[in-house]
Amino acid sequence: MNLLTRVRALFAPVLEELAPDQAKVPDYLAAVKPAANPEHGDYQANFAMALAKPLGQKPPDVAKAVLAKLPPNDVVEPPTVAGPGFINLRLKDSWLAEQLRGVATDPKLGVEPAAKPRTFVIDLSGPNVAKPLHVGHLRSTIIGDALVRTLRFLGHAVVGDNHLGDWGTQFGILLYGYKHHRDDAAFAADPVRELARLYVHVRNLAKLADGDEEDAAADNPVMAACREETSKLHAGDPENVALWQKFMPACLAMLRPIYDRLDVKIDHALGESFYNPMLAGVVEDMLAKGIAFESKGAIVIPNAKGVVPRTDEEAKKEEPPAIVRKRDGAFTYTTTDLATIKYRAETWRPDAMLYVVGAPQALHFKTLFAQARRWGYDGVEFQHLPFGSMLDPETRKPFAARKGGAIELMSLLDDAATLSLEKYEANAAARRASGRAVPDLGDAEKRDIAEAVGVGAVKYADLSQHRTTDYVFDLDKMTATEGNTAAYMQYAYARCRGIFREGEVDETRFRTDPPAVVIGHPTERALALQLLRFPEAVEAAAADYAPHLLTVYLWDLAKANSRFYDACHVLKAEAPELRDSRLLLVDLVGRVIRQALDLLGIRTVERM
Ligand code: ARG
Repeated sequence: MNLLTRVRALFAPVLEELAPDQAKVPDYLAAVKPAANPEHGDYQANFAMALAKPLGQKPPDVAKAVLAKLPPNDVVEPPTVAGPGFINLRLKDSWLAEQLRGVATDPKLGVEPAAKPRTFVIDLSGPNVAKPLHVGHLRSTIIGDALVRTLRFLGHAVVGDNHLGDWGTQFGILLYGYKHHRDDAAFAADPVRELARLYVHVRNLAKLADGDEEDAAADNPVMAACREETSKLHAGDPENVALWQKFMPACLAMLRPIYDRLDVKIDHALGESFYNPMLAGVVEDMLAKGIAFESKGAIVIPNAKGVVPRTDEEAKKEEPPAIVRKRDGAFTYTTTDLATIKYRAETWRPDAMLYVVGAPQALHFKTLFAQARRWGYDGVEFQHLPFGSMLDPETRKPFAARKGGAIELMSLLDDAATLSLEKYEANAAARRASGRAVPDLGDAEKRDIAEAVGVGAVKYADLSQHRTTDYVFDLDKMTATEGNTAAYMQYAYARCRGIFREGEVDETRFRTDPPAVVIGHPTERALALQLLRFPEAVEAAAADYAPHLLTVYLWDLAKANSRFYDACHVLKAEAPELRDSRLLLVDLVGRVIRQALDLLGIRTVERM
């Protein structure tokens, strides 16, 4: 159960009775929020200020009038009014205790399925397959996967689709490189490696930095030759099509180990090439419907305002239109995206299409969505979910802009795992030195921990930022064992499991026939409350498409947990009922951490 929703429900009937304008009731209810200062209570209702004017009363009097009408209930203690009319709410300990027992037997830990399940298509990852994966696509993959998992957990139908860049300029580069610079023996031995080499080689010949392929100067002779190869491919030239078919398996093979290592499974990978046969029809249809226009020999769709600037004067003020067919007849990224929308709408009938794509493409999506709506897909929620850049720790500039290419992801994950192992060893030694029990692990188990922590570190660091902020890629900070990091959460989980191992307690009973919960110590109460707030966090993360809200929640949970752990004995609790109650809390902490990390696509290990 979502606690916030439950508390709001207490006030709904009273507000409906008192509010002169019923339409405002949802706004008043939205003013019931978690308390800013826990000393004042758990939740706070701030609607009295807004209600004062329409009722012609002072806010504190409004607050008192509302409370006078609040029916007796077993959820909150009698509320108090503070300051200019805030209502402070404190949940009853007995109610919290009862709720927790309910959560303990619930495999979903209190999270209820969405009242109105929707169908989402999530466009994620979308690498350009002809070249080594770029860090920008890493962010799209991680954030997209977390959204897939979170929405699915809430009972929505989610289709993940990887819009592979498997048809663009990069293939022209490979085709050109293969025809003029290939090493046959190298290709036969390891096509993946040889293609990656050719890609970099041609890019260097053309004197281009990574990511500049599309913006190469018109008179760059190498790029002109590459573009020629792309055009021939698109026109169906048999040699180029055959080479494309030969390259594709190798290109996909470059990606697979990374997805495996990241533990990301995407339902579909319908790349740009899949839509090629549909592009001419899309342009014809949009022309026929009066959505696309001819402009200077090309076919364009208007900008989001519906304008195609006609004069230079207009062009200065307006966002540009998007080209869907170039003067030479070539189709574009936009044409492909229009075909994709049509295909997805017809195939999966989604309520929403979410695009987890970097911020630089904002204008593309703005124009695309506006014209897709005019084209008839106006019942679909379209969202571009942009994200910021990963910054190079040395230059503080996006990795993408770095000359010499984006860092290779595989080696980045290797580094994260290596560093995690070092820190694990150091941490274990320190724990041992301070007299704490540390499990004696074999090399294989240590490597498994290093992998879970290393990959988890990279993911958690990314997901704990608000999607749109840039962040510095700092491996040392990411793999830290203290603070809001994957390792810290994974330790917290393993410690919960460790308590059950140490006490030789079977956890099953706590999940099937939970004991009574005793809420005594303030840290116990704070932890109980935080555990019950898990559904609030999951629903907020889904509603805002913001996985970082889960990490905010996890960090608060971890802090409440460590305060509890410092203040209360568990296995050596003062009485058997207290021990049972605390073991239930410990088990729930472990389960909630594990579940929340799983929604973020991060693995836990049983002991560390
Ligand atoms: N391949 C594209 C790029 O690297 C991202 C694809 C995003 N998805 C889409 N439907 N346009 O920029």
